[in-house]
Amino acid sequence: MNAPLPRVISGMRPTGALHLGHYHGVLKTWVSLQAEHDCRFFVADWHALTGPQALPHDDAVYEMVVDWLAAGIDPERATLFLQSRMPEHAELFTLLAMHTPVAWLERVPGYRERAEDHPSYGLLGYPLLQAADILAHKGEWVPVGQDQAAHLELTREVARRFNHRAGRAIFPMPQARFSDAPRLTGLDGQKMSKSAGNAIAMREAPANVHAKLRAMPTDPQRVHRHDAGDPGRCPVWALHEVVCDATERQPLAQGCRTAQIGCLDCKGVLADRIVAQQQPWRERAAALEPKQVHWLVEVGTERARAYARKTLREVREVLSFQGDA
Ligand code: TRP
Ligand code: SF4
Repeated sequence: MNAPLPRVISGMRPTGALHLGHYHGVLKTWVSLQAEHDCRFFVADWHALTGPQALPHDDAVYEMVVDWLAAGIDPERATLFLQSRMPEHAELFTLLAMHTPVAWLERVPGYRERAEDHPSYGLLGYPLLQAADILAHKGEWVPVGQDQAAHLELTREVARRFNHRAGRAIFPMPQARFSDAPRLTGLDGQKMSKSAGNAIAMREAPANVHAKLRAMPTDPQRVHRHDAGDPGRCPVWALHEVVCDATERQPLAQGCRTAQIGCLDCKGVLADRIVAQQQPWRERAAALEPKQVHWLVEVGTERARAYARKTLREVREVLSFQGDA
């Protein structure tokens, strides 16, 4: 028998259709890992309840899963599931909570700021629920954005404590796996995010991609076409760096610095490149039937549960609970 593949687990909160920041920040890593890892990717719809709700749940979940598949997530290789259908995650969360000091959770960076807007017990527990998501699957690699580093740190602390109590390594120590393009610049030069309204959707209509880029600010010191610019000061360039390759970029940087090209030329190249990259996503998404997508998640959820159930059996045994489920 072949050795089991290393286990990868990751989740995303369902925010509806994804944008290029999601793709370059996380999704692209998911796609690249699936060939040689046992990947489980899930919709973190419980975690979503700690923030403001935008779309109705079903639409938000559906649009996001379509974007996963559009990006090339292959349900033959990766297991796709819904967190809210995993009682094992909730059970593990409860059991781990009993030995997790509140101080560990209070000191997670960002907690206090977020608690000012939507204070809740669930928000405090957010990183612990994430730990349960990861540990229920004995995840070894966790591809996430850099903003999740502290949650992974907490997950390891919780796992270490449990293993110590068990006297053996029930849980592996999960490691974060970051993308090489951790932060994508949005249309206003700030981090791309849906709530900031500065995003280009993965399946944005080509005409919109062009229009959005045309309206984007450039090097503030390049006021006229004949002014030389500096790509280092330009938010459009930050996108170029993620989307285009160096050979394609080099002459543009040169043209910018010498005022041989205008910003519209430079943006046009970027827009064409983005539209070309999006083309296979649009095609894959167009070929999907809602029924088929729901079914994939249904099958994945059953498979994920079978695994998590085994982990929970071990955990219950360590804590000397009787009986089996
Ligand atoms: N907190 C993660 C985010 O906002 C989502 C998430 C929930 C997650 N549970 C997880 C990611 C488990 C990785 C593993 O991006
Ligand atoms: Fe930015 Fe390109 Fe204009 Fe230079 S030419 S300022 S890099 S948009």
